[in-house]
Parts: sequence; structure tokens; C-alpha cells
Amino acid sequence: FDLSPLVTPAMDWFQVNKRDLPWRRDRDPYHIWVSEIMLQQTRVEAVKPYYQGFLAALPSIADLAACPQDQLNKLWEGLGYYSRVRNMQKAAEVIMEKFGGQMPSDYDAILSLPGIGPYTAGAISSIAFDLPAPAVDGNVLRILARVSEDDIDIKSDLAKKRAQAALEGVMPASGSGIFNQAMMEIGATACLPNGDPLCGQCPWKKYCLANRHGSWDHLPVRSKG
Ligand code: ADE
Repeated sequence: FDLSPLVTPAMDWFQVNKRDLPWRRDRDPYHIWVSEIMLQQTRVEAVKPYYQGFLAALPSIADLAACPQDQLNKLWEGLGYYSRVRNMQKAAEVIMEKFGGQMPSDYDAILSLPGIGPYTAGAISSIAFDLPAPAVDGNVLRILARVSEDDIDIKSDLAKKRAQAALEGVMPASGSGIFNQAMMEIGATACLPNGDPLCGQCPWKKYCLANRHGSWDHLPVRSKG
């Protein structure tokens, strides 16, 4: 399946249809980082007030690095998975010591930071620095499985590796962050995980094999556990 015809329609659609979200108002790498960590296990609506409160209290990476534990826990209270914020503080300390207090603008350096895996490194690299790195999460795996009618188990490492490689081959030279966010947005607002997808709203409708064959109902395939 050729992903290359999907890039421009997704980007054009995103520019018109994107939701106005607090972390889309600027491209500061610290802001993008905080939002992506919060969004990993928490829904968009729940994240909004935490994102704004966190950055109001800790406006810079230096503030995060220096924040006392009890204040940090308070800022995260209700979000859960506290290891996320403990790792962010560890990464902030590394950024202060090794990178002069600025998020490095290099994919491998970003990936080396505590709590930052390939998805988050790709999101920060592309959205903040316009580097052509994919950001493969469950939403991206689902929409790719449907558009290409691929019944690979999306929980498998092979599925993640293949999606990563296929996307690396089509990342736009400029606007990679728009393309990555467009795929997140297709997954969040059209190609829904539960219930019927809203194919009428999807920029990939005419390319989508699952739409053409009505097979979206049993895609993606996900192993349990
Ligand atoms: N989920 C993960 N990253 C996101 C983003 N940048 N915008 C909306 N939802 C997201």
C-alpha cells in the first residue's frame, strides 16, 4: 500500500479542521513535550486544565528541574501515572546539565531523555523542530491498518516497526509536525476506535480500503494483553 498520496490531503484537511487546543498555540518544545506526556494516558478534555496549570506554575525547563517533589505531585494530582512527571523532572535535570537548559533539536538526543520513547521523540522533533520523524501511537496504527486494510496485530513490535518505516518514507520535507498531528486528528475525530468511524469527515475516504470494502468493523486487529 502506497502512503504517499495520503500526505497532502491529510495536511490540507488538518489546516481547516484542526481543533483549537492549548498546546497548538505555539511550538515551544517544552510545551509540546508537556502536552504529549500528559496526553499519553489521559484524554484531551482532562488534559487541558492540567496543561495550563502546569505551565503557569513551571514556565521553563529550569523551573521544572528545580521544582520540589510535593509541588510537582500537586500539579499532577488527578492525572495519575506519577512516573510520567518524575521522568519529566529527571529529563529536565539532564537538559539543564547537558543541553544548556534547551530541549535538544536532534531526534536521537531527545530520544535519549528519561521517559521519552519513539512516539514522544517523534512528536517533539516534528512539531517543535520540523524534523521529518514519524510519531506512531495507537491512533496512527489504527488509521494505517484501516486505510491499507492490513490485518497485522497492531500491538506487535513488527506492526510498529513497519508503520515507522513506511511513514519515514513519506514524511514531508517541511510540515512533518502538521502531518503527524493530522494523523492524530483523523484518529481522534473521524476514524474513531469505538463505534462507527465518521468516514464522511475523513480526508482519506477515497483512498481507504476498509471504507471501500466495509471492513473497518474488524480492523485494526489487536491481540489481548
Ligand atoms: N494526542 C496525542 N498528541 C496529541 C496532540 N498533539 N493533539 C491532540 N491529541 C493528541
